[in-house]
Amino acid sequence: FSGFAAMLTESQAEAIAKFPEVATVEPNTFHETHTTRSWDFLGLDHNQPAQQPGLLKKAKYGEDVIVGVIDTGIWPESRSFDDKGYGPVPARWKGKCETGEEFNATSCNKKIIGARWYGRGISAELLKGDYKSARDNNGHGTHVASTIAGGEVQGVSYGGLGMGMARGGAPRARLSIYKACWVGGSCSGAAVLAAVDDAIHDGVDVLSLSIGGAGPQFPGTLHAVQRGISVVFSGGNDGPVPQTVGNALPWVTTVAASTIDRSFPTLISLGNKEKLVVRTELSFLLEVCVHCFSFSVIC
Ligand SMILES: *[C@@H]1O[C@H](CO)[C@@H](O)[C@H](O)[C@H]1NC(C)=O
Repeated sequence: FSGFAAMLTESQAEAIAKFPEVATVEPNTFHETHTTRSWDFLGLDHNQPAQQPGLLKKAKYGEDVIVGVIDTGIWPESRSFDDKGYGPVPARWKGKCETGEEFNATSCNKKIIGARWYGRGISAELLKGDYKSARDNNGHGTHVASTIAGGEVQGVSYGGLGMGMARGGAPRARLSIYKACWVGGSCSGAAVLAAVDDAIHDGVDVLSLSIGGAGPQFPGTLHAVQRGISVVFSGGNDGPVPQTVGNALPWVTTVAASTIDRSFPTLISLGNKEKLVVRTELSFLLEVCVHCFSFSVIC
C-alpha cells in the first residue's frame, strides 16, 4: 500500500477521508512499548566517567538486588537474560524454579533465579492458549522484565529505528518471575495475591507489577512493604483523562511517564510535489504514552 502517518486534527482527518483516492484514515492504535533510550533520558547513563559516578554506578548497576516481576511470565532464551559473568545466586535466596510446559530447570540461570506460575482457578479456555509454565506467550512480561533488569544487548533496533544498546534500568539485578497473568493479559486477583505471598517468602528486594484495570485492589502489597520490600507499579495507559495515574496506592511507588527526547523525521513527497516532514514520536517511556493524536492514512 502507499500511505503515511500524520498528526491531524479531527476535521483534517475527516477532510482527507473524503478524497476518492483515500481508502481509509485510521486513528492511531497502541502497541507494546519499544525504546532503547529511556534510562539515559532519565539521567541513569550507562557510561559514566569514573571521577563523576552517577546513581547507576553508585548502585553497582543493581548487582545482587532481586526483583520479583508479577506478569505474563518470561521468554528465558532472550539475550537480555543471559547470565554470563554473574556470580552465584545470593545465598539468602529461598525461591525456586518451577518447571512446566517448555520450561525446565535449565530455563532458570544466574540471572533468572526464580520462576513460578499460577494456573489454579484459571479457566481451561485461557490455559489452553498459553504455556502451562512461566514461559511468556504474550510478550508483556518479557518486555517488563527486560526493561527493569535486562542485561546489555548491543545492536538492537525497532525495524532499523532507534539502533542502540537495549538494557534494563538495573542491568545487573537478578529476576524472579511470577506468572499470574495469562494469554490476553488477564491477571486473576487471586493469582496475583498468591504470587505476592510467594515473592515475600522467596526473599525478593523489589516487587514490580505492571498491571491494572481492576482498581487498586492489591492488598498483599501492603504486607510486602511491611516486610521491607519496595513495591513498584505502572501508572496505567487507560485514562479516562490526560494525567490519570492508576495504581496510586499510598504505600507503593507508581511510575508514569510523559515524553522522551527523540523523534524520527521522515520526508514524504506527495504527487503534487508538496513535501511534508512527518515525525514519528516514539513518546513511550516505560508504560505510558501521553495521548498521541496521530493517524495513519492509507491511499
Ligand atoms: C530442557 O532441558 C534440556 C536439557 O536437559 C534442553 O536441551 C532443552 O532445550 C530444555 N528445554 C527447554 C524448553 O528449556
